Amino acid sequence: MEPSDWWRTAAIYQVYPRSFADGNGDGVGDLAGIRARLPYLAELGVDAVWFNPWYPSPMADGGYDVADYRDVDPVFGTLEEAEKLIAEARDLGIRTVVDIVPNHVSDRHPWFRDALAAGPGSPERQLFHFREGRGEDGELPPNDWQSEFGGDAWTRIDDGHWYLHLFAAAQPDLNWDHPRVRSEHESILRFWFDRGAAGVRIDSAGLLAKDPVLPEVDPGAGVHPYVDRDDLHPIYRSWRAVADSYQPARVLIGEIWVPDTERFARYLRPDELHTAFNFDFLARPWDAEALRESVDTTLAAHAPVGAPATWVLCNHDVTRTATRYGRTDTRFDFAAKAFGIPTDRALGLRRARAAALLSLALPGSVYLYQGEELGLPEVEDLPLDRLQDPMHARSGGTDPGRDGCRVPLPWSGTEPPYGFGAGESWLPQPADWAGLTVEAQQRDPESMLALYRAALRIRRAGIGGDFAWLPAAPGVLAFERGDGFACVVNLSAAGAQPPAHRELLLASAPLRDGWLPPDTAVWLRRW
Ligand code: NOJ
Repeated sequence: MEPSDWWRTAAIYQVYPRSFADGNGDGVGDLAGIRARLPYLAELGVDAVWFNPWYPSPMADGGYDVADYRDVDPVFGTLEEAEKLIAEARDLGIRTVVDIVPNHVSDRHPWFRDALAAGPGSPERQLFHFREGRGEDGELPPNDWQSEFGGDAWTRIDDGHWYLHLFAAAQPDLNWDHPRVRSEHESILRFWFDRGAAGVRIDSAGLLAKDPVLPEVDPGAGVHPYVDRDDLHPIYRSWRAVADSYQPARVLIGEIWVPDTERFARYLRPDELHTAFNFDFLARPWDAEALRESVDTTLAAHAPVGAPATWVLCNHDVTRTATRYGRTDTRFDFAAKAFGIPTDRALGLRRARAAALLSLALPGSVYLYQGEELGLPEVEDLPLDRLQDPMHARSGGTDPGRDGCRVPLPWSGTEPPYGFGAGESWLPQPADWAGLTVEAQQRDPESMLALYRAALRIRRAGIGGDFAWLPAAPGVLAFERGDGFACVVNLSAAGAQPPAHRELLLASAPLRDGWLPPDTAVWLRRW
């Protein structure tokens, strides 16, 4: 495989900069902290790092409200430090993927400020979706669209007009029919590619294009007014031309929540995006049939377009795997999030270990979200007055929000801040994380960190070749890759017998008389 094809098989680690490592001791993670910890990532054995947004931002949505796409927020550091970080990571063999947020800007972005100042009907307002309201005095929003975070997707301003925001009110949506919006984003891509970024992760990539009439959502219409519209494809074709103009070519990774796998795969045609996150797999319950079906539909949808599949278990938006798998309902569903769901943590961790071996053995690229390699649980008892996620606030307080998976990493020591920085961290860490620190797990050959390191090492040394299911008992997933490598995952309540093999490469839990106990996965070399 050409080195330029790295993205086809890469293990990509997601860093949430606020919560990775705090270099200056202000309680918030930063680029200095990340730079100091790059050797950790190299030792872990990942091929690339995707950084959540580090741009200047009022942080109304964790930095996904960008005020300047060509700089770094002072809380994280400077642009110069970002350039150094990219170069230092590259020296360690780690590529950098930056987060691009094209659907919306911050309400403090100069374009939006100018639009507010310029008034109704002005060219400045054309860059956004401003409309008059309905009702006698325009007191009703222009249509029924709902924010992804709950509540109306419209906010009214002093002159009586309304603007569209599919997320928080501080995130006005851009008008992608405007040529300036398009040229600006291509220039932003070049800005980061010129600084050595190997690729970009494209935020909310399925939402940019809107029906210009802004009609109400009609489930019977067949076409959604703002999700997965056909007009998105020309946008990504021109982005691909930008990415391909670099040497080596840069990589485009889409955040696309589109349930129809055939529609999803259209974004991955050879002249569009390279890959996109597999949210179907992420949302599946811990159930052999459900996961098997997801693998099958994923591979079947990707094959015709020649794109590699991706495998994702969690990220900064969803409940941590080690917690989700310890519940009665092991699916992920934004709508089902609630406080106080009973969780068996030991069971969740056991399954998360098995799921790690499953996802790392499947064909394609794989994402791991910081802390996943430590088996961190979702933190579900954060003080309510410390929660920052607009998803919590906009739900009227019923949705716990996404802060619970964004708690700063524990590095060392026996009490908060566990080597994350000095003093109190922006979200408090639990008192019982001493055993979960990197330091503690490095000493323990049975730890989650040891499992991930071993698995990534074996994967790098070569898990390749064609994928094929092997015969297996009900509730058991077994497949081979190429000649001789096999992965067996036992999701049943009974023991499972592995196929004949000459070497047990790795096990997520000890075998019993050669059999896999429930919720255990193994990697084998077959005869
Ligand atoms: C998806 C991001 O992953 C999420 O964190 C963010 O809130 C929304 N897009 C809006 O940018």
